[in-house]
Amino acid sequence: MRLKLVAGNWKMHGGIEQNRNLLNRIVVGTVGIQNTACAVCVPYPYLSQVQSLLKNTHVSWGAQNISQHDKGAYTGEVSAAMLTDFCCYYVIVGHSERRTLYGEDSRTVSIKFKAAQDAGLVPILCVGETLDQRETSITEQVVGEQLDTVIGLVGVDVMARSVLAYEPIWAIGTGKTATPQQAQDVHVFIRNKVASYNIKVATDLRILYGGSVKASNAVELFTMPDIDGGLIGGASLVADEFISICLAAQN
Ligand code: PGA
Repeated sequence: MRLKLVAGNWKMHGGIEQNRNLLNRIVVGTVGIQNTACAVCVPYPYLSQVQSLLKNTHVSWGAQNISQHDKGAYTGEVSAAMLTDFCCYYVIVGHSERRTLYGEDSRTVSIKFKAAQDAGLVPILCVGETLDQRETSITEQVVGEQLDTVIGLVGVDVMARSVLAYEPIWAIGTGKTATPQQAQDVHVFIRNKVASYNIKVATDLRILYGGSVKASNAVELFTMPDIDGGLIGGASLVADEFISICLAAQN
């Protein structure tokens, strides 16, 4: 059985006071959770705070992006090794906001994925299509290419130490969620695609759904057989919402 994962993606939100309150509530609210891992991916400046608040708890933490480079003259960038200094477990790579707003193509994303793994981090690789692409029925082609590029660079075996997140771009931050069946269909496509390289890796791979997941729709999404949890944006900033989403995953 695949262990479910619910990971919060705070994006560019947070503040010292707000984080402390949010994290303390999440830890208490998810204590004793079964068969589900909980994590938060936070802005870099808060990693030290998050580390000290979450160490020795069941909630793990990570970042939202890394540099593809190890070190050097890359002003403003943060390396994978720096994240391990703060005991990050996860790092999101290839989020659609990085791809569209910062021009990260699938090749750059693949190099970041590899950099994360080489440093011992677990990358959460995001894939997904735009509304236009869905409406022209090329979702599978787009998602397939995003996956093929990463597997082409790193090989399929290392996918075993990663998490995938299917995030239809039209559902991110829009309040429009993919229906459980729409999400399930793409998750099956992703799993089959990975299975065409290695069946065992595909069977064990956790595939999260992301895009306007809330407490009110989490149960129906997470009961789909190939949805192994969620990557949660807006709702991860509201303690009660995030706690309910985590608890929804354990059923
Ligand atoms: P959302 O964001 O839950 O606010 O739609 C999800 C994400 O971008 O990972």
